[in-house]
Amino acid sequence: MHVDNLSMDFIRKLENIQELATLPTVAFRILELVEDPKATMDDISQAVETDPSLTVKILRVANSPLYGFRTEISSVRQAIISLGLNRISNIVVGVALFTKFFNTSARQNVHMREFWRHSTSTGIVAKSLARRLKISFNEREFVGGLIHDIGKMVMIQYFPEQYDAVLSIIRERQVRDVVAEREVFGVDHNVAGRALAKMWQLPADLTDVIASHSTLPELSNARDITAVVRIADLLCEMWGASSEEGILELELERERAWNVLANIRPELQDLDVEVFTFELEQEFKKAELFINLMLGD
Ligand SMILES: [Fe+2]
Ligand SMILES: [Fe+2]
Repeated sequence: MHVDNLSMDFIRKLENIQELATLPTVAFRILELVEDPKATMDDISQAVETDPSLTVKILRVANSPLYGFRTEISSVRQAIISLGLNRISNIVVGVALFTKFFNTSARQNVHMREFWRHSTSTGIVAKSLARRLKISFNEREFVGGLIHDIGKMVMIQYFPEQYDAVLSIIRERQVRDVVAEREVFGVDHNVAGRALAKMWQLPADLTDVIASHSTLPELSNARDITAVVRIADLLCEMWGASSEEGILELELERERAWNVLANIRPELQDLDVEVFTFELEQEFKKAELFINLMLGD
């Protein structure tokens, strides 16, 4: 079969999976409200509270050591006051997506567990990297990390046999994930992710993170957040929270994401990579904590 047909086929298959057709209602609504200059704190908190189990999870995260508030946060309103409207909105989107896709059936799949460990770690490391560079994305980098490989997620979840073939190619021939994916699916996870982002009408910056994190093309609008997520992604890949991208060696300073970010944010040069890498273990623990907070009833 011609490669173009194969890739069209795969995207068409994705479009026909009912479960993938729409974002969780709350996430969709929140993304809409964030774009609306007239939206108020009450609009956001009401939108979140329509989903009680989501509300519980948001409060769990807000009260966790991930944010370190001393007084207890007991309502969405209070969480918004403490963390700010934008940060809470992004946390809600992240939690809603995580909960929708890391559902009971997904938890049976070994690759899926590894996948979410990688994704959550990437989100947490991106958060920490942004903080060190004194860049504020209002937790958008956390959501970005959480969903950067969403294209891979659908491959693992809905096409497990083909995904096993991808892994065999990566391991046997020592090629990168994107190369093996193109061979098996006709598209790589960046392209598959872009199709999902389009279906879900995700905002441009998140779409860029999903569609361009492996390559960072010149045209990307959200270059700084995409580069931050990619650097976090690479660190996780190499030091203990891998998604089997097939990278054998990494020299961070030679990576495109690093150079892109160093151009826009010169403070990157001051980052002590060795110390940062050394502290990754702590970041991975925070990622485990996030997963446990989400999975507990
Ligand atoms: Fe990726
Ligand atoms: Fe990744």
